[in-house]
Amino acid sequence: MLIKTPPMGWNSWNTFAEKVNEEIVMQTADIIIEKGYKDCGYEYVVIDDCWSLRERSEDGKLVPDPEKFPHGMKYVADYVHSKGLKFGMYSCAGVRTCADYPGSYGHEYTDAKTFAEWGVDYLKYDFCHFPKSANCKNAYLTMGLALRASGRDILFSACNWGVENPAAWMRSVGADMYRSTGDIFDNYKSMKDILLSQEENFGGSAPGCFNDIDMLIVGMYGKGNVGVEGGCTDEEYKTHFAMWCMFGTPLMIGGDIRNMNEYCEKLMKNEMLIAINQDKECRTPYRVQSNYWEECRVYIKILSDNRLAVALVNMSDKESTVPFYFAEAGIPYSTNIGLELTDVFTGENLGIKRDYFNVKLKEHDCAVYIAEMRQF
Ligand code: GAL
Repeated sequence: MLIKTPPMGWNSWNTFAEKVNEEIVMQTADIIIEKGYKDCGYEYVVIDDCWSLRERSEDGKLVPDPEKFPHGMKYVADYVHSKGLKFGMYSCAGVRTCADYPGSYGHEYTDAKTFAEWGVDYLKYDFCHFPKSANCKNAYLTMGLALRASGRDILFSACNWGVENPAAWMRSVGADMYRSTGDIFDNYKSMKDILLSQEENFGGSAPGCFNDIDMLIVGMYGKGNVGVEGGCTDEEYKTHFAMWCMFGTPLMIGGDIRNMNEYCEKLMKNEMLIAINQDKECRTPYRVQSNYWEECRVYIKILSDNRLAVALVNMSDKESTVPFYFAEAGIPYSTNIGLELTDVFTGENLGIKRDYFNVKLKEHDCAVYIAEMRQF
């Protein structure tokens, strides 16, 4: 098994798209080390679409664009590896990529070999321009096997946006993670819709293969490729990151970490949240079925040391109080068990709560706690 917990790293798409180049990738690798992102677990540096020439070489190989990558891909891979990081690239199951560069359809084994020769550790595999006559599952199986035949351990990041319910079969075709949704954009609605679309679909996410609900938009504030005017507020980025951690989905930073503000950098390095995301049992969060109002959410995630991660979320558009009745999460008052809560954002220990707890939250804000079950 290549990965036991959700992969963490950075991907060029959300901010750079076709502007990606060697300098950006290498500077990002530097920053991952210098600013301590690697110490928090971020290790994959992934180049998304738009890295190649528009056509294959005469011998049928993919060719890096010499203007963007003048020293070729092995050079970039070696640099990333010299920092103790892992190197990722992108191709597509279709005939062309989404941005109209050559895809791997019919070239899977050649391309997997090329990636292995360059020193690639991670391949994101997209689904644009896929022939109508071809079979989706078979195409992902073909690349899954091509990577295994390539002679190198390459994480297979399948990205077919949820077509044909990938939770049911992507693990079987060798994927280590599978995108289950369309693309994220840098606004609250996009993030919330994506999250809620997968609320019930994390059952298939476990060591070896994870449900991927797309890359992070934290810190983009409306700038870059998937930037949308206005971007998100700090509370929205906080909820976004916290929920990606609670749901145990891969944490691939999509912002420009060379220019990240302090708030967002601190958020994405939050040790307790990352520990929740990386918990070794990889349990799915449980939605506590409170029906007080539609857009309040309470999730608990059982951690491997018997503690609980508890998230209270105000998804509505106004300041609201989110209640958490322990009985609804399997801890009735008669047990004499309460929850000792530690706030993951402030580190504050709130003591042992009995029976009930609530928190007033600004619109789109959340509170997350590590909870220990305690006798009172
Ligand atoms: C989309 C994919 C995005 C990005 C883009 C590149 O299909 O979902 O994450 O990779 O293609 O063109």
